[in-house]
Amino acid sequence: MLSEKVKALKEEINKYQAVSEEALEQYRLRFISRKGELTALFAELKNVASENKKAMGQELNELKNLAQSRFQELIEELSSSKVSETADHPDLTLPTVSGDLGSIHPLTIVRARIVEIFERMGFNLSEGPEIEDDFHNFTALNFPPNHPAREMQDTFFIEKDPDIALRTHTSSVQVRVMENQKPPIRTLSPGRVFRNEAISARAHCVFHQVEGLYVDENVSFQDLKQTLYHFVKEMFGKETKIRFRPSYFPFTEPSAEIDISCQICHGKGCNICKYTGWVEIGGSGMVDPNVLENCGIDSKKYTGFAFGMGIERMTMLKYQIKDLRLFTENDVRFLKQFTPFT
Ligand code: DAH
Repeated sequence: MLSEKVKALKEEINKYQAVSEEALEQYRLRFISRKGELTALFAELKNVASENKKAMGQELNELKNLAQSRFQELIEELSSSKVSETADHPDLTLPTVSGDLGSIHPLTIVRARIVEIFERMGFNLSEGPEIEDDFHNFTALNFPPNHPAREMQDTFFIEKDPDIALRTHTSSVQVRVMENQKPPIRTLSPGRVFRNEAISARAHCVFHQVEGLYVDENVSFQDLKQTLYHFVKEMFGKETKIRFRPSYFPFTEPSAEIDISCQICHGKGCNICKYTGWVEIGGSGMVDPNVLENCGIDSKKYTGFAFGMGIERMTMLKYQIKDLRLFTENDVRFLKQFTPFT
């Protein structure tokens, strides 16, 4: 009698499936708990004939051990089935794991600030292709074919005859804007430029410029000076001085280089400003009438000013960075040091 019950329970325990927490709890109550069926069987042992008691007791003990080990198995099965269940159906209501936030590249910070300052003066944004033809990069800008001024900029050519090259300056965007729009034009064109130069702390073959162009009736050199004066004060602080140094560019007449007082030594003289107290941030001038005409703008009616400034140069001055290569190495220890300024 008893041994049949033992056999039946053994089978039941082996087949038992804990499909849920409740089923597992049912199992525990029936086969593990002191008030369960096994305890009841042990109680029946006293009715077993004495010669069979020992064998029966052994059988019951084995059943008890089986119930215990099966219970452990069921716990494990249930928890692993839960894991795979959640893997199949991720809980979309859980809060996200917060990752490390990146930081804004210093060149992006400075470009955004430049754009902001000029937008407030009524300049819009324009852009042009980085792969440019000879007309937009040189010819329209008053560089005649074989003119030595073309050699001022070491060009990466992609194709010869007709010449296709990586643009050497953002002045090419001036041409595209003037070809397609009528004055008044007030536009700012930040972008990447390319020159065939050896990479060093002070020079790179890829860098950024920002081009400005203002064409309307009666635009004068005074407007150019005032615009850049305002920009420099906003960008580098009220105490920063600006000076215009006569220069030459084929596309402007007269032309001037833009210098600001050195941000490192504040004009006293240091190795960054080569002990002059001044550092150059770009070139500027009155748009040459030939350039206006090349782009279909009446140079008798309209005048304009233009400027082109180096974004890396301004960023180095702003944040006192001494090596141009840091901008492209993408070392996070460098990149994470910059926060947007106001
Ligand atoms: N394109 C010149 C350069 O890359 C910079 C420049 C000078 C731009 C004078 C201008 C300008 O618009 O008027 O060196």
